[in-house]
Amino acid sequence: IGNQIALTPPMGWNSWNVWGLSVTQERVYAAARAFVEKGLVNHGWQFVNIDDGWEIIGSSDEAKRHPNGEIRTNKKFPDIKRLADDIHALGLKLGIYSSPGPLTCGGYTASYGYEELDAQTFARWGVDFLKYDLCSYRKMMKDLHSAEELIPPYKKMNQALQKVDRDIVYSICEYGLGKVWEWGARVGGNLWRTTGDIWDDWERMASIGFNQEQAAPYAGPGHWNDPDMLVVGWVGWGDQLHYTKLTPDEQYTHISLWALLSAPLLLGCDLQRLDDFTLNLLTNDEVLAVNQDPLGKQAVPIIKAGDIHVYKKELADGNVAIGIFNLGKETKTYSLNLRTAGVEPPCKIRDLWRQKDLGSFKSTFDTIIPEHGVTLVKIFKEE
Ligand code: GLA
Repeated sequence: IGNQIALTPPMGWNSWNVWGLSVTQERVYAAARAFVEKGLVNHGWQFVNIDDGWEIIGSSDEAKRHPNGEIRTNKKFPDIKRLADDIHALGLKLGIYSSPGPLTCGGYTASYGYEELDAQTFARWGVDFLKYDLCSYRKMMKDLHSAEELIPPYKKMNQALQKVDRDIVYSICEYGLGKVWEWGARVGGNLWRTTGDIWDDWERMASIGFNQEQAAPYAGPGHWNDPDMLVVGWVGWGDQLHYTKLTPDEQYTHISLWALLSAPLLLGCDLQRLDDFTLNLLTNDEVLAVNQDPLGKQAVPIIKAGDIHVYKKELADGNVAIGIFNLGKETKTYSLNLRTAGVEPPCKIRDLWRQKDLGSFKSTFDTIIPEHGVTLVKIFKEE
């Protein structure tokens, strides 16, 4: 580990999936206030991250930087230092977004050629998290074809971040050009995206979540695989918000899977419109404890039996969390053989969503799982 931060997966919110490029300083502050007002702050939710859209747009005639080279914010963000102060006063942390190329994905000004200055500016503002998105760097290099070529630009920003007197979590956003998990930690990444963008339907969420196996060995305290944001609650691009298309059971699967995968938990929804179901989903401390377990081991599938996939995550206390997922379209009963799952019976089993002890089990554990749903349990060795 290069730096001793993000020792458990970051938990927070990111503006992209809800506001897109219509993000404003007020909307970001409103998200921070909602973290406090809805009590999410008491369950570990902490980062409030501005995604793309705070800089001056690349194609505009306006100056993109101050005469001393410092990056300018656009009108929607009158004062990021003030925003950071206000967010810190709530006990939360602020994240920001940039790119190693000249422009961000949305066509806004980015950090190419100004890495050190931008790192200093972010630190001076009080930024605690930087998402660094490849985007125009790829175009700029035209013939970018191997992962090796991505290492220098990501290393450069990491070196700049290391020089400033502030802990800034470094989030690498690059996908599609090889296996970022193989080099993410080497360039100081605290998390790195392993996939393209997520959206709120079962196929998309499941195809991302159930395909994280090859990256698993690379996750650990300080450096995490990031399968993108949580698509629960009201999501979807600023003026066109809709309630997630995931069914309640699909949402239990989504959160259970991200918890087991030790994935960063970054909400992509309108926090001011959190309904009770979503709030409950995000404040179950026993489920969150699986995600935040200090051992930092990413779960892997140990059984794939047709539509049933069983994931196992080893925990710091020597016990295990197990997710039994039903990827099929009808309710299934499943009998988990404890020895096959690598646990020595007899053992005690606790249902984590219901926060209920299920009793002592001698050889198998039987459960009924609805369509696209999950049974999430913790299995304790019996003394
Ligand atoms: C890419 C990223 C998204 C978001 C947008 C912003 O698509 O994957 O998460 O940051 O860029 O333009």
